[in-house]
Amino acid sequence: MSWRALPKVELHLHLEGAAPPAFIKGLAREKSIDISRIFDDRGGYVRGDFDWFLKAYDAACTVLRGPEDYRRLMAAVLEQSAGQGVVHTELFLSPDFCGGGDLSAWRDYVDAMADAAETAERDLGITARGIVTCLRHLGPEAAKPIARCAAETAGGFVTGFGLAGDEMMHRPGDFGWAFDCAREAGLGLTAHAGEWGGPDMVRETVDLLGCSRIGHGINAVGDHALCDHLIEKGVTLEVCPVSNLVLGAVRDWKSHPIEILRDRGVRVTVSTDDPPWFGTSMSHEYDMLERHFGWEEERLRRANDVAAGAAFCDEDTRAQIL
Ligand code: ADE
Ligand code: ZN
Repeated sequence: MSWRALPKVELHLHLEGAAPPAFIKGLAREKSIDISRIFDDRGGYVRGDFDWFLKAYDAACTVLRGPEDYRRLMAAVLEQSAGQGVVHTELFLSPDFCGGGDLSAWRDYVDAMADAAETAERDLGITARGIVTCLRHLGPEAAKPIARCAAETAGGFVTGFGLAGDEMMHRPGDFGWAFDCAREAGLGLTAHAGEWGGPDMVRETVDLLGCSRIGHGINAVGDHALCDHLIEKGVTLEVCPVSNLVLGAVRDWKSHPIEILRDRGVRVTVSTDDPPWFGTSMSHEYDMLERHFGWEEERLRRANDVAAGAAFCDEDTRAQIL
């Protein structure tokens, strides 16, 4: 059997970052918002370095303005994922991007997204869970109300809390209050670390924030003791290889550490991050891993088993995923 038929589990997908360019362009037209600078002449998103990406991403999100936009976005993204053979996906949701920063309507947004997820589960057989995510570059104070949003909507569709954005701003420990609040609400914890930062960033994220998953985490490879620590603690890395290549977190495929990490026994999984921004999909990620590292069905199946084991879902859902 080829890996193409494998049921896939994706743990690291940004809802806004998965929006097809035509979807964002359509909303911009409807609302007369000029964000033409973020589109290239073939209708895709303009590519650039991480700085450009974060700014262009912000601009794209300005057209998402109400719960109905989020319902439509969730439906479009889950249809895309199901078309890739994904049976379970976990999506980063950023209240900072909803409704121009007015968090009072957060519950309405969650209800709309959860409703779209329920429809997709019934019609397409894909399960989806939300990870409420704060943005690191907005600072630890701004993360507190986001953690409260996460805690208030915990249970059902919302099962996780995360940290994304510019990794080089602030230290993991600065977000301790937000992560404690989310943990007390029973949420699973993940944070982007070791995409741009070094092994120290990954270690602090695990030890000070208590994350069981790390977004990217690839720079852990430079520290053997840290890799042992991740194995011992059962931490799972949400690796997004094509994102790393396109944004320049790694120089070329030869330098991508996913195979070294896997070979050392670190739990690695495969995700797309922000697929239309990087010209990727789950099938494309798998194709690249097969081409550059000889990953065949068995290794890809194992990555999906690891992802199912690390998913922020209840045991019934986990049993049904694979
Ligand atoms: N938000 C969306 N994609 C991201 C990435 N790769 N790193 C940090 N924040 C992000
Ligand atoms: Zn990400």
